[in-house]
Amino acid sequence: MKVQTKDLRKVYKDKGSKDKEIVALSSLNLELNAGDSLGYIGLNGSGKSTTLKMLVGVLAPTSGTILLNGYNPLTDRKKISHRVGYLSPLKSQLWWDLPPINTFRMISLIYKIPKKQWKSDLDYLSDKLSFDINNKNPIRTLSTGNRVKSEIISTLLPRPDLLVLDEPTLGLDIVSRVSILETISDMQRKYGMTLIFTSHDLEDVETICDQIMIIDSGNIIEHSTVKEIKSKYREKRKIRIEHAPISHHETLDDSKISLVSESVFEYEIGAKESISDLVKLIPFGREIVDMKIESPCLSDIVLDMHKKHG
Ligand SMILES: Nc1ncnc2c1ncn2[C@@H]1O[C@H](COP(=O)(O)OP(=O)(O)O)[C@@H](O)[C@H]1O
Ligand SMILES: [Mg+2]
Repeated sequence: MKVQTKDLRKVYKDKGSKDKEIVALSSLNLELNAGDSLGYIGLNGSGKSTTLKMLVGVLAPTSGTILLNGYNPLTDRKKISHRVGYLSPLKSQLWWDLPPINTFRMISLIYKIPKKQWKSDLDYLSDKLSFDINNKNPIRTLSTGNRVKSEIISTLLPRPDLLVLDEPTLGLDIVSRVSILETISDMQRKYGMTLIFTSHDLEDVETICDQIMIIDSGNIIEHSTVKEIKSKYREKRKIRIEHAPISHHETLDDSKISLVSESVFEYEIGAKESISDLVKLIPFGREIVDMKIESPCLSDIVLDMHKKHG
């Protein structure tokens, strides 16, 4: 699904003091095409959920426009909302007093999903997520992991063209998290869904998104591909070399080299420098025990950006 926003803005009235306003989103201009996957990152309270609620048409913008395949999600609700899948920690679509299968059946009716497709998707999803669809316990008694899995299955069964997920991995154990991310990514690719995904965990974003957008107190401070961001920060690569212990009176004359411990030193490599340039510079005539190149991870990069804008 094509997603376009122009000068999208949301200002809340502060409930504590009437003349104070909270700018939750100052101005967003976004263009996404079918099959794009966007990771939306920011600290708590930076405006992510507000943005998503406006995109899916459950919250009216203060100003600006949103078009989903050319339709306004708020006023053309009937034309577009059935093609949008939205998962939020604050809004459950599950029937809490019934077993998960009842919700899945309801969804097949509401979205008029062909029986064969529903069955094969359900088999596929439950298998991929290691989720027992024959579990007869009501949803309210399930573990957090199984509840989130039920939400994910409910959201994916209609095969939405736009998949909007607000912190789907919050509070999950690592095994559930990995299987949920893999499942989302699989379905997204298979059906060319447009994915918008918020998380405060950058590893999640790196795993399943091609683009990343960073918000800081209502302002978009970065939007590019994960690849671009990482290559921009390539000069921050570090090489870590372990060698025989160095004695204290030996000095290192290159300022780029820092000693981590008596047998490990670190060297920053510029974007254009190659590893062989570095090897020539190694001041010690001693044997190298181990050598590791460390690229900055996405979370280091984002921390750096927040510092610059803070
Ligand atoms: N209904 C509301 N009324 C007033 N302020 C709100 C409301 N919802 C969110 N906010 C405020 O808007 C800002 C952005 O919130 P939110 O979009 O939930 O951020 P995030 O999802 O990134 O944590 C926060 O300062 C929050 O307190
Ligand atoms: Mg939020």
